[in-house]
Amino acid sequence: MGWFPLKLLNVGVRRERGAVFLKKKNAELSRKAAGEGMVLLQNTKNALPIKKGAAVALFGIGQIKFHLYGGGSGSVPNASENINLLQGMENKASGGRIFLYKPLIESYSAYIQMDGRGEMPLSEELLKKAVKNADTAIFTISRYASEGSDRKAAKGDYYLSDKEIDMLEKINRAGFKHVAVVLNIPGVMDTSWISRYPDMSVLISWMPGMEGGNAVADILCGDVNPSGKLVDTFAASYDDYPSSRNFSQHTDYVNYEEDIFNGYRYFETFDPKHRRIIYSFGYGQSYTTFHLSKIKLSESEKHVKITVKVTNTGKLSGKEVVQVYCGAPQGKLGKAARQLAAFRKTGLLKPGRSQVLSMSFPITDMAGYDDTGRIKKSAWLLEKGDYRFFIGNSLLDADQRGVQRIIKVNATKIIRQLAEHAAPVRLLKRLLADGSYERLRMDTAHKKMKTKSANDLTGSGEKSTVELRFSKKKAKIMLQDVAGKPAKLDAFIEQLEDDQLAGLSRGTKATVAGGTGGIGNLNEYGIPNVQTADGPAGLRITNPATAWPMETLLASTWDPELVRAVGKAAGKEALRNSVDIWLAPGMNIHRDPLNGRNFEYWAEDPLIAGKMGAALIEGVQSQGILAEIKHFAVNNKETNRKESDSRVSERALREIYLKGFEIAIKESRPRLVMSAYNLVNGIRTSENKDLLTHILRNEWGYQGVVTSDWNNTAAFYKEILAGNHVRMPSGSATADHLMIALQKGLITRTDLQNNVRPILKMILQTQAFKNYRPAEQAPIAISVSEATRIRAADFIDASAGVNIRSFPGKDSGLKSAQAGNGEWMRFIIFVEKEGTYSFTPRISTRYDHQIFDIFLDGRKIGRSIQEKATGGCHNWKNGETIDLRLPEGRHTLKLTFHTTEEKINGFELAYNGTNVNNEV
Ligand code: BGC
Repeated sequence: MGWFPLKLLNVGVRRERGAVFLKKKNAELSRKAAGEGMVLLQNTKNALPIKKGAAVALFGIGQIKFHLYGGGSGSVPNASENINLLQGMENKASGGRIFLYKPLIESYSAYIQMDGRGEMPLSEELLKKAVKNADTAIFTISRYASEGSDRKAAKGDYYLSDKEIDMLEKINRAGFKHVAVVLNIPGVMDTSWISRYPDMSVLISWMPGMEGGNAVADILCGDVNPSGKLVDTFAASYDDYPSSRNFSQHTDYVNYEEDIFNGYRYFETFDPKHRRIIYSFGYGQSYTTFHLSKIKLSESEKHVKITVKVTNTGKLSGKEVVQVYCGAPQGKLGKAARQLAAFRKTGLLKPGRSQVLSMSFPITDMAGYDDTGRIKKSAWLLEKGDYRFFIGNSLLDADQRGVQRIIKVNATKIIRQLAEHAAPVRLLKRLLADGSYERLRMDTAHKKMKTKSANDLTGSGEKSTVELRFSKKKAKIMLQDVAGKPAKLDAFIEQLEDDQLAGLSRGTKATVAGGTGGIGNLNEYGIPNVQTADGPAGLRITNPATAWPMETLLASTWDPELVRAVGKAAGKEALRNSVDIWLAPGMNIHRDPLNGRNFEYWAEDPLIAGKMGAALIEGVQSQGILAEIKHFAVNNKETNRKESDSRVSERALREIYLKGFEIAIKESRPRLVMSAYNLVNGIRTSENKDLLTHILRNEWGYQGVVTSDWNNTAAFYKEILAGNHVRMPSGSATADHLMIALQKGLITRTDLQNNVRPILKMILQTQAFKNYRPAEQAPIAISVSEATRIRAADFIDASAGVNIRSFPGKDSGLKSAQAGNGEWMRFIIFVEKEGTYSFTPRISTRYDHQIFDIFLDGRKIGRSIQEKATGGCHNWKNGETIDLRLPEGRHTLKLTFHTTEEKINGFELAYNGTNVNNEV
């Protein structure tokens, strides 16, 4: 008896892509983007930019604890650098641009080293000294946000803390010539206090990525002229946002009663005099001034065309953003008073120079969605009447300039007839344009309820008509044979066993250090393990990576070209790190300022979100890296995020919450979409056929893959039926779920085959596939003359959690596999002669009653039970011997574990005659 002399398996190795990190270039781009998206809110007395040679006193712990990115998927834990505000200012000081008042910095550093909480108490003495030694004071106020929790409408978060108010008072009274505040924030916060300090300047730096400190210093010192504009409305108080009424009302659901009136759409409709707005959508100042002239708006070939001349009338070079808003006729649907229709940013204009900006969009973009049949149910309608256009450098400015042009539509037109999908079942009312609420019917026939857990297999399906069977082996087709020959895809899929189809529908092991898992990994058929990594702030991996500014900052640049460049650089970096799929961009709409993930999303407006998303995707995919946009859809709250139901009308879905996705998908064709954790109108998004199949695929023509969000709580087989192709990250809690569903007839082999088709098409487009050399197929010969021992480590592929380690002791020198519940490993064997074989595993376990199942070509042929612990985790013993019938020829043999901690070192197969049947 001896170990079968195995030829070393040449497991597919990816060609090394070079690890040179384009640190400098990316750092420059990250800094540039950061500088373009920061928003100057107030600068009445021109405290900014700081005069050359001025002495500056830096206040606030935020100068050191400066947040460059948020928490969770939107963090970049191994950012290749992290420049806080203090370092950025020190860099300017070392170049002689400014002087910093050191004793103050020393105090803050010491306070932070002592782990001081909240703002540092400021002694009168230190303040006096600072005033004596510096003419400009900069106070940094920081806020943080992270995936997994929401922000709070409380002091120290949405509102200033008492300590911060105290600091503001002290600094403003101290006698500095100039005072400026930097708001290092992940989204909207209260700004009502700014009006108490009219002479103070205020800059929003957002969470600006790894070069953030340098980028803020560039603006504070005037090396960069701010040109960012808000992409969210800053209201007088949190309670002014209509969403505030129901955001925290219930943990299990949110009623989107404000309907289409999100953000500025609400304020413009119900507060046209801007009484409840502090900073309007589209607002942002510059160190220079601009004049808009020669505004022309015309209509031709169903497109509205606009040209505007922008002249820099100030003394510094700068950039301006022109925004076009539409006021559609109220008609029968009722409309928001304004809707962003187009926007464009100038290049850097020198003082006195002008640029003519042109924009254009189809008038049909102004259509509304009739979800209740006021005119024509389930249709996009362009209602007749006057379409008024407003143009300015902010929404307020556009309003103040008044109507620039009216375009008349003479008769109501149906733009596109669709069907009812994802309709609300529990939303009782919604806001209308006249301020009243419309009662919505409760659709009881439609009462779909959320399922209980990932393992829910309670549905009653038809018994599968497809027999679980040994496949008849034909000449094997490898995925490489399908490349360039799509007609072969069906035959390729046909040859896969049921459990292989199921395996392709689950995520796989991460091979990129710090990555988020893979897809594919069926080496036997030449399918590589394509790798994913987060997004959207940068690559969240173990290698050093660029941290880009948060999405809201990027959107505040109003510059899709710049965002495309960021996407391109991020794609290039993914390529160098063997990441095939970047989990970005986040596409959800800012509905409420407290959503903990707003920083991973663009804006309150779907046009901005859609255009920015499209630009980023295009940049990423231009490098051969696939973008996965997320979280589809209506993911606007973190509290109880896996169980919360977003109850929303079809109209608000179409016009607001899906619109950004639709624009990005149609314009840039991302290859993957990630469904969300939440439910939409009672159905988990990953089980939601209306969303994933009817709207995404059938209406929008999306052809790519949908994956679940990581570790969601949906029922796996229902996801497949709905059009959610891959369960991420590994679905290990539900490893045999699909096979059971198949046996119960809840899902068919055809469903699984259809499911893997887009997955394989996607894999064919990855770098992993292009660089893949499939393993040489070396089946392990099962001999009749002597027992064959197979090492666990010689599997051809295995699930994500299988670990191969060397253990000391009696069996030392051998590799062992340890597998948790649901994990598996697969071997390729060649049986010389059909017959019965004794199967004896070599195992060790600390626990009684350990089980694993044995599958041959996808069919269960045996179960190995170890009743008693073997006496320690390195105490190897031969397990129970069972008989298996093995047909002649080439087969896959798969071991699937059912218990938590069993280690297997290998197994032995000894020919034993001819008469056992594999009925389990
Ligand atoms: C997040 C996703 C992320 C995934 C992988 C989930 O918790 O919601 O946005 O891409 O984890 O890290």
